[in-house]
Amino acid sequence: MTAERDFSHLETIAARMVSAGRGILAADESDRTIAKRFEAIGVASSEASRRDWRETLFRAEEAMRERISGVILFDETLRQSSEDGTPLAELIAKTGALVGIKVDKGVAPLGLHPREPITHGLDGLRERLEEYRSLGAVFAKWRAVLKIGDELPSRAAIAANAEALSRYAALCQEAGLVPIVEPEILMDGDHDISRCFDATSEVLRAVYESLALHGVHLAGTVLKPNMVVSGADCFQRAGVEEAAEKTLSCLAACVPRSVGGVAFLSGGQSEEEATAHLNAINAMKRQDAHPWPLTFSYGRALQTSSLRLWGGRADNRAAAQEAFSHRAKMNGLAQMGAWSAQMEESAS
Ligand code: 13P
Repeated sequence: MTAERDFSHLETIAARMVSAGRGILAADESDRTIAKRFEAIGVASSEASRRDWRETLFRAEEAMRERISGVILFDETLRQSSEDGTPLAELIAKTGALVGIKVDKGVAPLGLHPREPITHGLDGLRERLEEYRSLGAVFAKWRAVLKIGDELPSRAAIAANAEALSRYAALCQEAGLVPIVEPEILMDGDHDISRCFDATSEVLRAVYESLALHGVHLAGTVLKPNMVVSGADCFQRAGVEEAAEKTLSCLAACVPRSVGGVAFLSGGQSEEEATAHLNAINAMKRQDAHPWPLTFSYGRALQTSSLRLWGGRADNRAAAQEAFSHRAKMNGLAQMGAWSAQMEESAS
């Protein structure tokens, strides 16, 4: 028997992460991923350029104060200071947003399953979590990646990733950090929406079975799932209403009621698509079947247009902040089912 622990602090943090009208900014791109994003806008990735970009976002005062509940950072960013010497984590905390940290170490092929990824980073995690906490982090993120394809995802990949997510989540709670549990099923492929529904259901069931086995306190966790959508190359992609309806029925069937909250990833959806889906989901949700707050934890869907406007130049900072603030506001409204497409038109 494990000793009784007090998880009330974790429940409070989780509730703040998913508070009404707000969501999470995923700014935790690994060095490789951010280099790819910068390359697309012709900016070289260096410690200074990465700092400048992220500082631009964190200094978007209004968005940060009113729409962003928390920010997920990459290891480097948690240790960086802004141009005037203020630690970036402190800049974030000053706006009232919570500081989070990506703690997985990326993916590698699963043994004997070379087409499928397994997430690394459990070795030494207990010690790293202690350090992250001392640097100001109050929540963490671990991303598992699953693929839909010929006979994929395999049962082995589902089980291995569910186990890794659970071991990570248990260590986070032991260290006093709220774990974001992220089993992402990639949108890549030409599969239809029902394939995504089936795979997402199977993966979520396995994840919650494993979290229960490990004794993880669900009210002190936030789930970060993919929405149930058609594959990016599907011949006939499902519309917004169908995606919302299937996402909600999948969550109702597979996610325990005690989970602290749900914050979707955007996964390659366009900015407006990610907002429209979140809005439809919230407009359609029923408290009896979907008791959790449903919000965003977007990377690309909050940053793409802003990053393009920034282009690596200090004199574009204000325009970039305005674009980011607009996306944060649109998604904050979508969290309450109060967004409409006309709001996008009037802004442009
Ligand atoms: P996207 O919203 O760009 O999918 O990123 C969210 C994230 O944190 C993936 O791990």
